Amino acid sequence: MSNKEQLIQAAVQMKNKAYVPYSKFPVGAALLTASGKIYTGCNIENAAYSVTCCAERVAIFKAVSEGETDFVGMAVAANTKRPVPPCGACRQVMSEFFTDSMPIHLTNEAEKHETFSMKELLPFSFSPQDMD
Ligand code: THU
Repeated sequence: MSNKEQLIQAAVQMKNKAYVPYSKFPVGAALLTASGKIYTGCNIENAAYSVTCCAERVAIFKAVSEGETDFVGMAVAANTKRPVPPCGACRQVMSEFFTDSMPIHLTNEAEKHETFSMKELLPFSFSPQDMD
């Protein structure tokens, strides 16, 4: 299985771990490090809705908290008609750690995926260099 297929499959599987009593909308994510490790995430909701964390950020925060900041690919899966578009907050967090060319594979209910680069998902993003 290619890296891409492995990531997509890991993201699809992670939908099963989603804690979504409110939205009933499970999302899974998988993140591949340059060292070849996969970190996974699912969305985790809360009765105080606004503190919910998306699957993408759970995967990124798990990896960063383990000392990993060098990433080479991400996949996101949800039961959407089109490949699931990550929310704006997640795009901003992705852009902190991902290069402009990092591939992000978005998939849907039919497991039909589309791949976008970081730059395509969030052009003209606020970056650490803007504070120099
Ligand atoms: N959600 C994600 O986990 N990732 C996305 O890219 C879109 C939205 C979650 C947040 C919430 O638990 C549910 O999907 C509905 O918004």
